[in-house]
Amino acid sequence: MRILIVDDEDVLQDVLSSLLQKAGYETLAARTGREAMTLLEQEKVDLVLLDLMLPDARGLDLLKEIRSRDPEQVIVVITAFSSVEGAIEAMREGAFHYIPKPFKNDEVLLTVEKGLEQCQLAKENRELRAQLEQPFGFHNIIGRSRPMEQVFDLIRLAAPAKSNILVLGESGTGKELVAKAIHQHSRRADGPFITVNSGSMPPDLIESNLFGHVKGAFTGATSTKKGLFELAHKGSIFFDEIGNIPLDTQAKLLRVIQEKEFMRLGGVETLRADVRIIAATNAAIEDTVQRGNFREDLYYRLNVITIELPPLRERSEDIPLLVRHFLAFYAEENEKPVEEFSSEAMRLLLGYAWPGNVRELENVVERAVVLSQGSVVDLDLLPDSVREQGSIAVPSASLPNGGISLKEAISGYERQLIIKALQASGGVQKRAAELLSVKPTTLHEMMKRLNVSVDNIAIH
Ligand SMILES: Nc1ncnc2c1ncn2[C@@H]1O[C@H](COP(=O)(O)OP(=O)(O)OP(=O)(O)O)[C@@H](O)[C@H]1O
Ligand SMILES: [Mg+2]
Repeated sequence: MRILIVDDEDVLQDVLSSLLQKAGYETLAARTGREAMTLLEQEKVDLVLLDLMLPDARGLDLLKEIRSRDPEQVIVVITAFSSVEGAIEAMREGAFHYIPKPFKNDEVLLTVEKGLEQCQLAKENRELRAQLEQPFGFHNIIGRSRPMEQVFDLIRLAAPAKSNILVLGESGTGKELVAKAIHQHSRRADGPFITVNSGSMPPDLIESNLFGHVKGAFTGATSTKKGLFELAHKGSIFFDEIGNIPLDTQAKLLRVIQEKEFMRLGGVETLRADVRIIAATNAAIEDTVQRGNFREDLYYRLNVITIELPPLRERSEDIPLLVRHFLAFYAEENEKPVEEFSSEAMRLLLGYAWPGNVRELENVVERAVVLSQGSVVDLDLLPDSVREQGSIAVPSASLPNGGISLKEAISGYERQLIIKALQASGGVQKRAAELLSVKPTTLHEMMKRLNVSVDNIAIH
């Protein structure tokens, strides 16, 4: 347990810190309000012992500032006996307790101990509440499959760390959602979360957007403008589709990461960047690195921790949860009494390969809710793609009246599965082979035998 002592008198600092250290606590010392706030930004502090008489700030103002930064921070104030009003005011502003000066050692220890108990209790409550609110997921990321549990564990571990993080995953797997969850579970949660989508910026404006510019830096720069790095100060910056960043901007980005400094375009002042970078990409970034379109040194700087999001087809047990989640949301938004998908419709959703992952599933559910006229969504409200491919996973086992050619039926089934795998992999045969657990050469032979070609199948 760590206690921050805020007091400008050296004697009191010494007395209090040795008393608390002897009792087994770790202590930090601040002599001014500024110092206290800086320390609280940097360190996790369980309890603040605050003298209401400080040189640079009114103790009460500091108390308010600390509480507005973290409403659950436990604060015990120390006040001169003569200023009972100050103590009462402090309690009203959320101080846990007050200790009048001169104090007895036992009194300090007892109050601190109670305050820390309160801190512990508040923490447990918070965790319990979080668990109750989100039984099947983490934050607002739904999922309880093994691969998603692993993702949640990684977020929990990585979020409070200072390292940059790279989030990998196919389109629609929830990369942005994960980036936000990381920010919200980091110590920067109260700071800004800024998204940079370089793909949607004109290339010649990327750098001025990122680093800002001074008046007259280029034609059209009629006034000085802050860049996204400045706006993200003390927060996180999320680089969506990092692979799209032009090479010369990559060099500047590397410098920001290494030196933690940058300049506005045309400026002379060096600015500090206290920013955590979370980057995402759905392309095979390692290939981009090998082709020389992405700096290797930058890649390693960004990729300190990798969080890889599994495609939806590898965690179909999450599908019913996601469906329920989106169904409830869109039913309420559209004021429709839709309650569930029929079991037949659900079977198709489970069998479908979801090349667009969770985003595609969300769209399918929204569409069904909007079109639905009853409380149950049936097959007819699913898009053709889902109806056609979703049924493939479980072959019909009934035998037609006139009998069947087993060979032909199996070939037909093989053909459909291969098409489905090719669609799911965007036409990449190596990936499709992986999905089917066969060698690429085997897939190639089968495609020839079954007359399947990548050119004449619809790829999403
Ligand atoms: N596990 C999940 N739980 C709930 N909603 C999810 C989940 N994963 C994704 N979504 C939703 O799906 C949509 C797409 O998610 P997001 O934008 O985070 O994906 P992405 O990986 O960034 O996609 P892209 O690569 O196309 O940008 C969003 O509406 C998001 O809320
Ligand atoms: Mg995205």
